[in-house]
Order: sequence, then C-alpha cells, then structure tokens
Amino acid sequence: MNKPQTHRAITLAALLASLTLSGAVLAAEPVGPDLTEKLRGLLVKEMIEIEAAMQQTYSAIFQGRHDEVAKLGQAIHDSFILEQSLTAQDRQELKAEVPKEFLQMDQRFHRLSASLAEAGERQDTQAQVETFNRMTESCVACHSRYVTDRFEGLEAQSIPGSWGHDGGAVSEP
Ligand code: HEC
Repeated sequence: MNKPQTHRAITLAALLASLTLSGAVLAAEPVGPDLTEKLRGLLVKEMIEIEAAMQQTYSAIFQGRHDEVAKLGQAIHDSFILEQSLTAQDRQELKAEVPKEFLQMDQRFHRLSASLAEAGERQDTQAQVETFNRMTESCVACHSRYVTDRFEGLEAQSIPGSWGHDGGAVSEP
C-alpha cells in the first residue's frame, strides 16, 4: 500500500470511529421510565391535551378560523407542562430528571406555540401552516429521541437536527 492510500485508510477509520461514537451519543434514551409515577402521569396528561389541541388547530387552520388558532396556540403555550401545571418543586424534580437536550426541545416547542398564537392573531394562514409543521417536527424529534420505549416506529428514523432545535444545531446531552 502506498502512502496516500494508507493515509486515506486511516482517515476513513477515524471517520467510521467518530460516526460510531456519535451514533452512541445520539442513541435513544427514554425519559418516562426514569420519572416518578406522579411526574410521568402529569406528563402523559399534558401530552394528551396537546395532541387534542393540535388536532383542533389543524381543523381551524384549514378553515381560516384565525381566532381559534390564536386561542389554541396560547392554550398549548400556557398549559405546557414544563411551564405550568406543576408545582415549583415538581418542576425542579422534572428538570433534574431529564437531559438538558430534552429541556431545549421543550423550550423550542414552547416558543413555536407562542408563534402559532401570534400567527393566529395576525390572521396569517401561511405562517400558521408553517408553524404547525414546525410543531409537528418538534413532536417527532422529541419522541424519536426520548420516547422510543413506546413509539418504536420512530427509533430507526433519521431526524434532522433542526426539527428539535432552533437554528438546526444538535447539542450534546
Ligand atoms: C420535549 C419532548 C416532547 C415534545 C416536544 C413532545 N412530546 Fe409527546 N411525549 C413526550 C414524552 C417523554 C412522552 C412519553 C411519556 C411517558 O409515557 O412516559 C410523550 C408522549 C406523548 C403521547 C402519548 C400519551 C399517552 O397516551 O400516554 C402523545 C399523544 C404525545 N406525546 C403527543 C405529542 C404531540 C402531539 C406533540 C407535539 C405537538 C408532542 N407530544 C411533543 C415528550 C415530548
């Protein structure tokens, strides 16, 4: 083997090693089983409410019911678990239990719901559709990373970093 080839082989080996490493870093790590029964129960309740609100939002958007979009966006924003509906102590506990990246994904989702409310107030259908899509990406990004114990179908999916994070950067946990 001549020198350039050896060099290339080493570079390839290093690349493969780093890919394997990042694969391990990005491996699924379900958060639910680590939570207390109370916290998990609250989280699930909140998720079911969000799902219902998202379905209503979908209907409101394609029928041009702007006020309803604004109201639902605001409701999702206000009710989301890590912001409200938990005592200060619950929140502390939850924040201590989940990875930092989970909280970042939550915050992004939270910001998007505020944008949805604003797009409703502006009667801006295009922005409503775009924000709704970003929110759906947000659900999938978080679930594919942290709920693979229950949503196995999302486990092997390759999800763009931008789906869960502002600006598309994927931060290390
Ligand atoms: C920051 C992370 C995160 C985001 C964002 C997120 N979820 Fe979840 N979701 C979870 C976790 C964690 C669970 C699993 C809870 C458990 O079972 O332990 C879950 C579970 C669920 C469930 C199952 C509830 C049940 O019946 O047990 C639904 C439905 C759901 N999410 C809907 C949504 C929708 C819709 C969105 C987006 C609009 C969304 N989620 C965004 C973290 C997230």
